[in-house]
Amino acid sequence: MAESLITQIADTADILKRFLGERHPVCALVLGSGLNFYADTLEDRSVLPYKDVPHMKVSTAVGHKGQFVLGKVPRTEVWVICMQGRLHGYEGVTAQDVALPVWALHEAGIDTLVTTNAAGALNPAFKVGSFCAMTDHINMTGRNPVAHTEANQIAERFVPMLDAYDPHLRALLLDVAAAEQVDVNEGVYLGLLGPSFETPAEIRVFSQWADTVAMSVVEEVIAARHVGMRVVGLSLVSNMGCGIEGASPNSDEVMDVAETVKPAFKALMDGFIVRIAEAPVAE
Ligand code: HPA
Repeated sequence: MAESLITQIADTADILKRFLGERHPVCALVLGSGLNFYADTLEDRSVLPYKDVPHMKVSTAVGHKGQFVLGKVPRTEVWVICMQGRLHGYEGVTAQDVALPVWALHEAGIDTLVTTNAAGALNPAFKVGSFCAMTDHINMTGRNPVAHTEANQIAERFVPMLDAYDPHLRALLLDVAAAEQVDVNEGVYLGLLGPSFETPAEIRVFSQWADTVAMSVVEEVIAARHVGMRVVGLSLVSNMGCGIEGASPNSDEVMDVAETVKPAFKALMDGFIVRIAEAPVAE
């Protein structure tokens, strides 16, 4: 029989605690498609492959390496733990599989989740190659990691979702974006299961509701809020939604655009993580 979810979280957290040792990351950073390079730019890196963590599923998506990377923002003493490669529901894993590392990182002492991805623009004013800080989300995956018999043993089952994306931290991110001259808008993110891209008819409907769309993030964010973590979500706008300006998104295009924004993403994340370290945790 499979181990209970509580046992899986505890086992994973134990391994993460050992991996961290005396080092205290200011946040966990989930790196989305094309953004995995960021972990390689950190100093004093240590790596923990997901395959060495008993209950973690291994990521299979293109460019998602499948390892935790602990390192310091260059020229600082600020530690961050990256998920270099995330799990997506479309890989055939459960919502709890996606949530497991988030719950375990929290149990290992990390109180802030910064989650990033590549997304299609629903808002026609958004530019490919710009970024969007999430103000809220719409969960259209049809799944929820907290819908589980053991959810109450992890934390209160009915998770409040007002200000799920921390307004104070988002303001810091926008501050860094302005200082670094990186184009960051704000908007509502719509999360789908995938893996098919949306149809033009779906994009027309979703455009009434949200600003960006992709196939990740929402399950991680619900898990993080479930245990009271502060959350920041950032999308790279890698393409216009299907049918907008004739767009027909594909995964090569997503990776190509990500390649062009590496310096901007690096500057933004370095600056932001240092600001998180300086920001007091509100009561
Ligand atoms: N749709 C869904 N997921 C995505 C997209 C998109 O247009 N771009 C990147 N991930």
